[in-house]
Amino acid sequence: MPNRPILLGIVGDSAAGKTTLSRGIAQILGEDNVTIICTDDYHRYDRTQRAELGISALHPDCNYLDIIQQHLNLLRTGQPILKPIYNHSTGKFDPPEYIKPRQFVIIEGLLGYSTRGARDTYDIKVYLAPPETLRAQWKIKRDTRKRGYTEEQVIKQLQGREPDSEQFIRPQRQWSDIVVSFYPPQDHPEQSDLLLNVSLVLRPTIPHPDFTRIINSENTHLSSAIRLELDRDMGKPVDVLEVDGHATKEQVRELERLLCNEVPYLGQFCSLEAEHDVIGKVVGTTGETLQSYPLAITQLLITYHMLKEAHIRQ
Ligand code: G6P
Repeated sequence: MPNRPILLGIVGDSAAGKTTLSRGIAQILGEDNVTIICTDDYHRYDRTQRAELGISALHPDCNYLDIIQQHLNLLRTGQPILKPIYNHSTGKFDPPEYIKPRQFVIIEGLLGYSTRGARDTYDIKVYLAPPETLRAQWKIKRDTRKRGYTEEQVIKQLQGREPDSEQFIRPQRQWSDIVVSFYPPQDHPEQSDLLLNVSLVLRPTIPHPDFTRIINSENTHLSSAIRLELDRDMGKPVDVLEVDGHATKEQVRELERLLCNEVPYLGQFCSLEAEHDVIGKVVGTTGETLQSYPLAITQLLITYHMLKEAHIRQ
């Protein structure tokens, strides 16, 4: 096992799917091996103060970015932190919590890549970028069911926060190693979450598995649902792995086998999870169970990177 915790960053706008993805990855790695930290806990002001000051939670000035950075450094070296707690039900702060990092630490939040110091501490950086219409649907669903808001309030909040999203959240995409975008197929824009496609932008900032070995034009079985393309993202050359919502279990297993061959340690997880069929199955923040193959491949790819890092540091 590694001599220090492996840190995964998951950044994206409000209701982009950060918590759901974090939970799915923790499930694969084993919940006892993972510490999940949400940087909402580092808001500088409570809900009332934010309203009085006219500042949104998305603004860097509204968050203790310096303390996030300090805590990331402590976690990376295996040291405990005293983490504040922002209570989403009351909009106030609860007493802080003592946290000792486990083998894997997932840090999810709005502004995780906005300082250089913070960016430098993660082993793997993921950015979640669903289309804005889908994010709005997810946010309305979550905030009306779980956070006590009306639909009108959520829509108004989304509009009010748009300038901050544009200025502070979206530019962080450039710092990520992997950009994850779940999106509905064009011919079925109202498709349910279960059949969403995923586009995975793979930047050459970390060594990705050699997908070209199995995804090629000769393998029509696989390439009907899983494709690899060359593209540009924010001006930089990238590989893009596309997985359709109608991918089959066999296609996912085939990809899984490739990943398992590359990282023997991942093999243990694959066979274990395959047996229980939990890969790609997650309970979302609104309580429903999701199971989708694009989600399965996303989780596997990220897990692959975390285990590989852990292996390198052994
Ligand atoms: C957004 C973020 C939250 C953040 C919240 C604060 O909705 O997604 O995670 O903590 O803003 O606003 P609130 O609704 O709690 O006042």
